[in-house]
Amino acid sequence: MIDNFTDRLIVQEVAPRDGLQIEPRWVETPDKIALIDRLSQAGFSRIEAGSFVSPKAVPMLRDGEAVFTGIKRQPGTVYVALVPNLKGAERALAAGADELNLVLSTSQSHNRANMRMTREASLAGFGDIVERVRGAVGLNGTVATAFGCPFEGAIDEEVVLRLVDTYLEMGMTGVTLADTTGMANPRQVYALVRQVLTRLPAASLTLHFHNTRGLGLANVLAAYEAGARRFDAALGGLGGCPFAPGASGNICTEDLVNLCVEMGIPTGLDLAFLITLSRTLPSLLGHDLPGQIAKAGRNCDLHPLPAALGG
Ligand code: COA
Ligand code: ZN
Repeated sequence: MIDNFTDRLIVQEVAPRDGLQIEPRWVETPDKIALIDRLSQAGFSRIEAGSFVSPKAVPMLRDGEAVFTGIKRQPGTVYVALVPNLKGAERALAAGADELNLVLSTSQSHNRANMRMTREASLAGFGDIVERVRGAVGLNGTVATAFGCPFEGAIDEEVVLRLVDTYLEMGMTGVTLADTTGMANPRQVYALVRQVLTRLPAASLTLHFHNTRGLGLANVLAAYEAGARRFDAALGGLGGCPFAPGASGNICTEDLVNLCVEMGIPTGLDLAFLITLSRTLPSLLGHDLPGQIAKAGRNCDLHPLPAALGG
């Protein structure tokens, strides 16, 4: 069990990208900008603010340019854009993204469903992006379906490690291990994170968990115990890949921050502020959200005694 809780856990907020990409109801550009500006105020050091993918593939995020140029940038916050190809990278650079997040799946089948191309074609495109960027902005390589694929099932650890090595050889500044459809378990996470951290420092590694099968926060703790310190999470527990059957929300930001508050792990984030912000999402999106702390409140939000007991 973890005996050192003093290391800061960095939360990268992904609601504006992973969170919104699967939502059916259009969110107006000014509302996206307002959400990101509030997230900037909440103190996130990293926010994935959108993607520059085909507008046909993800219509909800087709206004990436207007969003990136419209937000109020908080000094010190890194605004990340997900891109699938060189065209996306050009758009993201023109819009002022600080870092590009490139995504490739472990499995040929999920890559073809998500990116409509082979893994080899994706990698060739990433090579062009590395050439184009030449160190001007950060480059993060995501290993999607790193803990299991909805089409192919279990994924061999070696496949993940080879892709991590490929990313590092290409000169990526960071790597994300993504559990796209919530297939990871804590034992598997611990083992893989230990292996990956022999290849790159904790500051360059992000874990991206979905809570599809209820193991999201258990996986966070296993990864933290194995030495990981940076995690993606989405306000309200929004999120999901539109091209992965059965996908559902990311781990919920305020639920993760609550866990950290209760365990004494520093995040630098204000839980009350996050809860207030999360409670604005159901009216924006028109449905209830899976996050639990926004409904239950914090441990310290006490209730009055029942009248029969003198309350
Ligand atoms: N941004 C905007 N438009 C793009 C684009 C990008 N990054 N990449 C391609 N396009 C356009 C092309 O210009 C072309 O436009 P046209 O029909 O007007 O000529 C059209 O999309 C088709 O281009 P093509 O290269 O054949 O793409 P495709 O249809 O094979 O799709 C991807 C490939 C990668 C662009 C698409 O599958 C995609 O965007 N996937 C991302 C999915 C996603 O975001 N998943 C969740 C996050 S992991
Ligand atoms: Zn995701």
